[in-house]
Amino acid sequence: MWQLVKYMISGRDFDIMGEMDLNLKDKVAIVTGAGGNGIGTAVCMGLAHEGASVVANDVDRSRADSIAKQLRALGIKSIPTCGNVTSMSDCRDMVDKTLAEFGRVDILVTIPALMIYKDFARCTPEELRQQTDVTFWGTVNSVKAVVDAMTRQRSGSIVCMGSDSAKMGPAMETMYASSKAAIMTFASSLSKEIGPYGVRINVVNAALVRGPGAGAGIEEAFRGNYPLGRLAEASEVADAILFLASDRASFITGQTLSVNGGRL
Ligand SMILES: NC(=O)c1ccc[n+]([C@@H]2O[C@H](COP(=O)([O-])OP(=O)(O)OC[C@H]3O[C@@H](n4cnc5c(N)ncnc54)[C@H](O)[C@@H]3O)[C@@H](O)[C@H]2O)c1
Repeated sequence: MWQLVKYMISGRDFDIMGEMDLNLKDKVAIVTGAGGNGIGTAVCMGLAHEGASVVANDVDRSRADSIAKQLRALGIKSIPTCGNVTSMSDCRDMVDKTLAEFGRVDILVTIPALMIYKDFARCTPEELRQQTDVTFWGTVNSVKAVVDAMTRQRSGSIVCMGSDSAKMGPAMETMYASSKAAIMTFASSLSKEIGPYGVRINVVNAALVRGPGAGAGIEEAFRGNYPLGRLAEASEVADAILFLASDRASFITGQTLSVNGGRL
């Protein structure tokens, strides 16, 4: 029987489907960009609800600390790690701390991205590079840091946050959209290398999510784009991520799943 569970985190409601039984109780998960009070936070809450231990990374120390504290208050084992995913050494440090604390790592969810909504011609070369650094290289660095431990264990599941922009190729988002497209191919290629070791990697592409960055005006303007007639909830994107992260998706790898209300 499915049941809706409400969490209030940083003043925001997250509706999480209860009794999904994804068997995450003995799993250790790292979530990068955990503290934005959006999809990353919803993923942490979903993992907590399923009983997984959570390593909450964020470039913002107070955000990482706050999520880990809130998870511990729910009775979940959780540690914060402050680190920038554009730095390979920060990503290595994040995985080292995880292994020191929990002795293993079963799940990695990569969240951070940077979009500077501006036309290509007006972007400085630095702005072009920053978006690729956070969105694509941040994902690659996090995966690179974790993949050795997972292949040694002969198990693991990686879910990378993508975006429908990867398939739509919208104007004003050239580097963000192309970085998200690169993540799809990265996951597809890497899945062939790590599959023989029992490690899976998938991507979840989201459409516009209702939340702090997309208030009532945005919802009004954009909901007509979606056959389901509304924007996504962060927890709906998180549910797809949790499924792919879990053993319930044990024969799914190298794939991209769109959570987009039927838009594409
Ligand atoms: N929100 C949407 O409508 C939407 C739509 C499609 C895809 N997405 C994707 O979902 C993901 C999350 O989006 P969101 O809006 O929930 O994010 P958010 O901005 O609410 O949270 C992102 C978190 O990542 C952290 N972060 C940023 N740069 C970092 C770095 N270099 N290293 C470590 N942490 C870093 C931030 O501090 C923040 O806590 C992104 O990949 C985004 O592209 C979001």
